Amino acid sequence: MKADISTKIAGVKFDACIFNTSGPADVTLAELEIIARSKSPAITMKSCTLEPRAGNPEPRYADLEYGSINSMGLPNLGYKAYIEFAAVLKRKYKKPIIASICGMTLEDDIIMFNAFNNSQVDIIEFNPGSPNTIGKAIVGYDAKEMDRLLKAVSKVCKKPWGIKLPPYFDLVHFDEIAKVIKKYPVNFVTCINSLGNGLAIDPATEQPLIKPKGGLGGIGGRYAKFTALANVRRFYELFDRKIQVIGVGGVYSGTDAFEFILAGASAVQIGTAFLQKGPGIFNKVQTELQTLMAKKGYIKLSNFRGKLKIL
Ligand SMILES: Cc1cc2nc3c(=O)[nH]c(=O)nc-3n(C[C@H](O)[C@H](O)[C@H](O)COP(=O)(O)O)c2cc1C
Repeated sequence: MKADISTKIAGVKFDACIFNTSGPADVTLAELEIIARSKSPAITMKSCTLEPRAGNPEPRYADLEYGSINSMGLPNLGYKAYIEFAAVLKRKYKKPIIASICGMTLEDDIIMFNAFNNSQVDIIEFNPGSPNTIGKAIVGYDAKEMDRLLKAVSKVCKKPWGIKLPPYFDLVHFDEIAKVIKKYPVNFVTCINSLGNGLAIDPATEQPLIKPKGGLGGIGGRYAKFTALANVRRFYELFDRKIQVIGVGGVYSGTDAFEFILAGASAVQIGTAFLQKGPGIFNKVQTELQTLMAKKGYIKLSNFRGKLKIL
């Protein structure tokens, strides 16, 4: 018998615990339909803003030996398009749909949350301040600003919702941000957004690999995995199961996904590996996870979720 890898996020049932993350190849309806037709049990859409955005100048993404660098600058079609796409996707594919909201201001966020309340979207992921939006600070690193946004947004949001968090590196910052998040009716956090502002250089041309910000960009893929695992673990402990944690960063295999669940993740998202390997990655990671679980005698995720053993 195959291991059961279904999960529930914010009360919404997912047939499997591994799905696409917001950002990579989920901007257009055509791209979203590729995800819908894949084994991804849910469809996460690109972070949207009030108005459409062209994003940063190209080249703005590059593959690296163990992952990726990007400074996309939030190219998206504007929130209205994603409300329309959600209706089409729901009708055709019946999978849970996750919208990602990333307003340039709190006022923008409120307008979008209100609009998504009356949409086919099942879950909202709030992305408060993208690491690659020039001129905009990462809100996740400012506990006071985070508090202001969550206070306002939680009054408006009527859908199950969570927050996409940047990576934290200092234990004090985990405590600070968890304290703020616990004040509000947040269902989950997603850890982590890209590792901010890396620099990848081509020694042959003596140039950076990407153009925006003098070459600085968010790092994803295998470079991000250990930081992502630590963030999942720490928030899993701090939230004491009252707020779920979704893991993302460097998932290429069933073993990677297993490690995230062991650290406490209720589900796992895939970004860079989806871009690099295509939509078959969801089936591959799910099947590998099931095989590993069978080998270990686990029949469902709760057999090992969060049960990282102590050395
Ligand atoms: C090309 C690209 C675009 C991204 N755009 C977004 C975005 O719009 N919203 C967001 O929350 N995260 C965005 N991310 C971050 C990913 O969702 C993810 O958190 C990060 O890349 C780590 O996962 P990975 O190692 O599987 O790529 C983007 C990442 C990449 C590579």
